[in-house]
Amino acid sequence: MERLQKLISQAGVASRRAAERMIEEGRVTVDGVVAAIGAQADVSQTICVDGKPLRRAEAHVYFLLNKPKGYISTAKDERGRKTVLDLLPEVRERIYPVGRLDNGTEGLLLLTNDGNLMNGLLHPAREVWKTYAAQVDGLLEKRELQTLKNGVALEDGVTAPAKVRVLDWDDRLGRTKLEISIHEGKNRQVRRMCEAVGHSVRSLKRTEFAGLNLSGVRRGEYRALTAEEVAYLYEVAGLPVRGGRRKGGAWEKS
Ligand code: URA
Repeated sequence: MERLQKLISQAGVASRRAAERMIEEGRVTVDGVVAAIGAQADVSQTICVDGKPLRRAEAHVYFLLNKPKGYISTAKDERGRKTVLDLLPEVRERIYPVGRLDNGTEGLLLLTNDGNLMNGLLHPAREVWKTYAAQVDGLLEKRELQTLKNGVALEDGVTAPAKVRVLDWDDRLGRTKLEISIHEGKNRQVRRMCEAVGHSVRSLKRTEFAGLNLSGVRRGEYRALTAEEVAYLYEVAGLPVRGGRRKGGAWEKS
């Protein structure tokens, strides 16, 4: 028996937290009976979300996308805006972005239908590092750089220590290019950190996620992760790598 939210997220329908909300809202049934919060079920039972049965586990797939600006990081958008899934039209599995990049942010975004890995990588306790190249207005003073490194007071709390370095500056335009690495995932965190020390962000690109980078993947393009990369991400997420095998270009855990 497993907790329902775990089974729902393993089926790639939603994150565990979103699945919990679905249960609270009475949208989940087990063998035709509306499930209570905290309920458990067996994979042999029929679990439905909004009346639709969970699909039997499909092979897990993992992609690394170089997201351009102008795409939102959700699977669906009620307002009909372009989503990152529009950039992977050949992918048949129901994949979800691992976290978010703002509409105006470009760069590295992982996508998968492996709910366990997604939850592990996004769990705050795992402190997964993400690196950004940010072009900001103005030239930063030493003490502003130090504040970015030490932690910035935002309305939702002080940010954890970050790694920050100046990559370049343009005296004529009065702009600085920074590299900022953080392991938190607050909403619009890098933009808000820079604004808090008085420098608005002109452009923002995520260059690394958990040590993976964009090498060989042009803007708007994507590639499947290798088996080694998936195994490495399992370690990063604190999950056991239970062995596995390659299947049709996808990595399926056995
Ligand atoms: N920080 C931001 O401000 N935006 C992003 O998209 C990611 C991190």
